[in-house]
Amino acid sequence: MNIAVLGYGTVGSGVVEVLTTNRETITKRAGESIDVKYVLDLRDFPGDPIQEKIVHDYQPILNDPDVKIVVEVMGGVEPAYTFVKKALQAGKSVATSNKELVAKRGAELLAIANEKNVNFLFEASVGGGIPIIRPLNQSLTADEIDEITGILNGTTNYMLTKMDTEGADYDAVLKEAQNKGYAERHPEADVEGYDACRKIAILTSLACGKQVDYEDIHTEGITHITETDFKYAKAMHMGIKLLGTSRREEGGLFALVAPMMVAEDHPLYSVNDVFNAILVKGNALGDVMFYGKGAGKLPTASAVVSDVVDAVKHMGTHIMTIWQPQKLKLSDYECYQSRFFVRVKNGTEDQVKDLFGDVDICHAEGVKDEYGFVTEPMTVKTFEEKKSQLDGFIARIFMN
Ligand code: HSE
Repeated sequence: MNIAVLGYGTVGSGVVEVLTTNRETITKRAGESIDVKYVLDLRDFPGDPIQEKIVHDYQPILNDPDVKIVVEVMGGVEPAYTFVKKALQAGKSVATSNKELVAKRGAELLAIANEKNVNFLFEASVGGGIPIIRPLNQSLTADEIDEITGILNGTTNYMLTKMDTEGADYDAVLKEAQNKGYAERHPEADVEGYDACRKIAILTSLACGKQVDYEDIHTEGITHITETDFKYAKAMHMGIKLLGTSRREEGGLFALVAPMMVAEDHPLYSVNDVFNAILVKGNALGDVMFYGKGAGKLPTASAVVSDVVDAVKHMGTHIMTIWQPQKLKLSDYECYQSRFFVRVKNGTEDQVKDLFGDVDICHAEGVKDEYGFVTEPMTVKTFEEKKSQLDGFIARIFMN
């Protein structure tokens, strides 16, 4: 089986490495050997054995009937979208790690794959090496999915863990994550929550079988999280995690990405460093959690290669994935119910009591001139109204 790899960056070189290192086992599992015939990249790699396979033009790949599977690991919507669409239309299966592409064009590309009786597979697009797409499509088919909540971005989880445990500097930790090959080319995709937003959009689309537009998902990143927030979290026996969540409530579906306080006894509390975890609640199954490395060269490449093996095993058969292009309208973010952790300046106790009732006050070690409290559950709208009347407001964090 000849394949082509589009992009020889972190993931692309990982795909070649995994195929080489585990060649024997992969051949057994796929039923035939998998050979990389072309690698498309704008750059040359003199001295690297890959150089003899490097091409700078997509056309030879597209026109070569020997290439039955295309691996797209370039990232970004264009030219990835054009290349993937053409490959599928030419009757080639595609495996991709590209979450932007899948979130934006997943339904359309799956429809083309269905029509052409090939496969469009994207296990690596969410949770790096964690199997989550295949389980959602093929294992959790007996359940109504009531909730999906996950730590979906390795870079920010790595950063938050270091900030929590080592009190490390934000910029220095971001640099470390970049050096380890976890971070996106534009780090705001990680730290502003955009990457996690695309991933929860993909998972939610698959869970409900319709298009959930990531632009509709309220998204907050970790840029405003400080050392002081972690001090309060510690005092309350909690952690702070960037969560992507979607949940069915009162006939609607809420989706949200934001840093949240997570209690010590919550299964996501102990998910640290580059690890991701996705907690799925089914109405019959109850809770199930998927855990593993959410970013990095080899974990991500492992998921891509697993898709290639699946594509080989299913040559001539389309694996049905239900993701219709009809848009699912999410419930209004302002109606989302949560408890909130709030930081305020000292001297506001009476006002807090008037607005929020008898809340428990929390003090953090070494933090002066302010205190924290946790509200009762209320909608975002109600909270924002009360907050606007609260003098001395400093910050708020969702409670999970
Ligand atoms: N930048 C992403 C992350 C890579 O940190 O999770 C994997 O999608």
